[in-house]
Amino acid sequence: MTNKLRYFIANWKMYGDLKSLKSIDKVIKFTKLHKKKRFKLVYCPPYTLLHAFSDKLKKSTISIGAQNCHQENEYGAFTGSINAKMIRILGAKFVILGHSENRNDGDTDVIINQKIKSALKQKLNVLFCIGETFSQKKKKLTNKTLKKQISGGLKGLKKNSRIIISYEPVWSIGTGIIPKNIELERNIKFIKAEVKKQIKLKKVTVLYGGSVNLKNILTLNMIASIDGYLIGGASQKAKNLIDIIKKTYN
Ligand code: 13P
Repeated sequence: MTNKLRYFIANWKMYGDLKSLKSIDKVIKFTKLHKKKRFKLVYCPPYTLLHAFSDKLKKSTISIGAQNCHQENEYGAFTGSINAKMIRILGAKFVILGHSENRNDGDTDVIINQKIKSALKQKLNVLFCIGETFSQKKKKLTNKTLKKQISGGLKGLKKNSRIIISYEPVWSIGTGIIPKNIELERNIKFIKAEVKKQIKLKKVTVLYGGSVNLKNILTLNMIASIDGYLIGGASQKAKNLIDIIKKTYN
């Protein structure tokens, strides 16, 4: 169907234990067999599994990422927190920032911007999540919301920073409902234009996240401007993740 580079980011959220690592064997095998396909796979397990994932994936083409980090770049008295340096030392190359589940927990645009700067300082690739709530969509505030999140989150960043945008409509996360293709195309075009206004990137990469699964992947793949997917629930089963990638490239 395609041979363009697409990202597949597995966001395990607060799921998984050491036993779950076994399921990754299938995925490692799959990536070895499909070296020619131009996909980039990144596992973002909970912090507790970063080290084990890092060990397991050392010799593979699969990268690992963290699901969040603290904004403070140096070590300090921040009980329960982990900063970008710590996750980089564990082997993470990516970090998800601005996820709506963390915005709900109090992450503002200002804090997210600080986190992004801290992560970039550690040479991590940032997966910067943005997206409107259902009520914002209903009130036709989608563009305004996205614009505010983009300008707040990316404020003051240097050109060609390692930023990947992930568009995740909040109403789509975990609901099984995805936007209509026409709406997605329009929003992704808007996001690309807004990001370009804010920061000079060689290419603006935009992923889609929110209920990506085996049933809707073919529909989503019809949108050429999507550069990959941030996958929650469906990424926890190795077979599902493999099949989603297969359906994209077959
Ligand atoms: P689901 O794929 O479970 O809807 O989660 C999406 C998400 O939040 C990925 O970051």
